[in-house]
Amino acid sequence: MAAQTWNAGRIDRMDYQQTDREWRETLQFHAPELQPWVDPVFSGKDVSVSVLRLDLMDALLGGNKWFKISGNLNEALRLGTRRILTFGGAFSNHLLAVAEAGRRLGFQTIGLVRGEATSGKNDTLQLAQRAGMKLHFISREEYRQKDQPAFLRAWQEAEGPFLLIPEGGANAAGRKGAGDILQYLSIPYDHLLCACGTGTTLAGLAAKLPEGRRITGICVLKGDGMLDDKIRAWVPQSNWRMEYAYHFGGYARHQPGLLSFMQGLYVETGIPTEPVYSAKLFYAVKDLALRDYFTAGTKLIVLHCGGLQGKTFTDVYNNAKAGGG
Ligand SMILES: Cc1ncc(COP(=O)(O)O)c(C=O)c1O
Repeated sequence: MAAQTWNAGRIDRMDYQQTDREWRETLQFHAPELQPWVDPVFSGKDVSVSVLRLDLMDALLGGNKWFKISGNLNEALRLGTRRILTFGGAFSNHLLAVAEAGRRLGFQTIGLVRGEATSGKNDTLQLAQRAGMKLHFISREEYRQKDQPAFLRAWQEAEGPFLLIPEGGANAAGRKGAGDILQYLSIPYDHLLCACGTGTTLAGLAAKLPEGRRITGICVLKGDGMLDDKIRAWVPQSNWRMEYAYHFGGYARHQPGLLSFMQGLYVETGIPTEPVYSAKLFYAVKDLALRDYFTAGTKLIVLHCGGLQGKTFTDVYNNAKAGGG
């Protein structure tokens, strides 16, 4: 095959070859459940809350990751390549999800990992490697060049033609795929809530939300307003809002209060969370309700976007408690 020249614009012109349903049937996913979250705080404010358990769809591919990846895989098929190159940190849920999707669907996957090879010992990267992902560890300086055409051309020369999926699946194909999550909302709702890293999932949902519905994102990174301009550039709608007060110290950082919240939530509802994304989201939902963020009578849906990567809640909780994040 002639070397394919990487072109950032191409990913925006999509021609889907498989529907979300067809991909899911191939992968034998479970249908996500809507679980009521009953709590005196919510009943006291006359707010009803259901959790869309995307995490239950699949142990490794469940959550929002699959939705962001599926649009990109269609793009790879369209371009006639079965090789995917993507990026992530050493604990990236995205890297593992791409590796696992590649294993199951017959795509060759290459992961460029930020940092030293010693981090290759962690569970996420070991699972990615076991799923067949070829990992390359690159320095932080090199990683910063990840969007530069010259950098990508060099990798293309080394590895052959590939489809590039940006870090976190954050591109137009990822946003389009994320919008497919709405098809699982089979009950009436007014307001959605999700955790945000790149903002791709929120943007994809905001773009497709029916008239009159709203979505609030909980930013897990530190930095007031940091995602607003990006999302504004992606979606013209003004049906969304980002909250910045629930980062608990920044990305992958947490504080003891968050861990006791996770434990309490698990005991009371059976819902497992992790401290990087979902625990911050669930904490924020309760706190916002307490602060009268939602008007009485509002029907909320919280999107559980996974992140547990097939680990048990106890593993995640103990690791977080020991400072592993
Ligand atoms: C569990 C979980 N929740 C939320 C997010 C945030 O998604 P996004 O980067 O699309 O904002 C991620 C990252 O993909 C995640 O792993």
